[in-house]
Amino acid sequence: MDLSALNKIANKMVETGKGILAADESGGTIKKRFDQINLESTENARRDYREMLFRAEGMKHISGVILYDETIWQKGADGTPLVKLIENAGAVPGIKVDEGTEVIAGTSGELITKGLDNLSARLPKYYEAGARFAKWRAVIDPVAGRFSHTGIMANAHALARYANLCQANNIVPIVEPEVLMDGDNDIDACYQVTQWVLKETFQQLYFMNVALEGIVLKPNMIVPGKKSAKKAGIAEIAEKTIKCLKDCVPAAVPGIAFLSGGQSDEEATANLGAMNALGGLPWKLTFSYGRALQHATIMTWAGKAENVKKAQTVFTHRAKMNGLAAKGAYKPEMERELAA
Ligand code: 13P
Repeated sequence: MDLSALNKIANKMVETGKGILAADESGGTIKKRFDQINLESTENARRDYREMLFRAEGMKHISGVILYDETIWQKGADGTPLVKLIENAGAVPGIKVDEGTEVIAGTSGELITKGLDNLSARLPKYYEAGARFAKWRAVIDPVAGRFSHTGIMANAHALARYANLCQANNIVPIVEPEVLMDGDNDIDACYQVTQWVLKETFQQLYFMNVALEGIVLKPNMIVPGKKSAKKAGIAEIAEKTIKCLKDCVPAAVPGIAFLSGGQSDEEATANLGAMNALGGLPWKLTFSYGRALQHATIMTWAGKAENVKKAQTVFTHRAKMNGLAAKGAYKPEMERELAA
């Protein structure tokens, strides 16, 4: 393991004013996204869509791109490997290496993430293809009765095994323990479960000899579930998220890059902006958004070549707004700039 190289990559992934584009939707997830625009999910359609993103001007606000296994091997319409397009834009290519989830038998439906069995054989191939970081997502449901020590512990352990193997292959692990945002739990339940999950995760990372200087943490924000009757404002979300992260994440971690988890595009940006505006944080705080970076772009594109330029403009705007939020310089009125 070359810790100095890992630390350099991790720092680049959370470079001030930039963040990560999560374009690693699995076959099933990208099909759901394309269903919204009535587009058949063919290999070429997926390639065209991602090529459009990686060639957009907005890539100047992107520090890294998470790819799915199919995409890392794909070439653009003119034969340029998509990985090369990402590198040319100054961003670091990365790869999702988990293989989805399955229910842990004997629990109330708690999920464990799969993909450890052949991981040490896959990682060198991804490195050779240009990946310098990886992603593994664990999922915890914070609704009462749906989480327990069993699921939290098993997922923290799997994240640590994954992170250990990544670092041994000089690949920076994005450690993603996601506490879901779609239940009827309130913000304080999200806080308590996230705190437990993060404390368990960092303990397991320690037991598994993972060097914190060579990881990026990808957590959820502390928010009420979508179906909760009790809403929370930006200031409360920012304050509780920072309090929880300061309590759980050692300062040796170079950066934290949030998932968007179903927040609207502008909510995800405003919350990140408010946290960075608080200042005095021991780590960089940025985005690693999937939906909140891509939703408006997909809808504008609608699978049509004639919409590519307009869709790229929409993507560039979103990336720019999030880049500003990552510096604490975002103001909601900046959104109007696009229409102007
Ligand atoms: P969302 O931002 O859409 O939650 O996706 C981020 C991600 O990579 C989830 O694993």
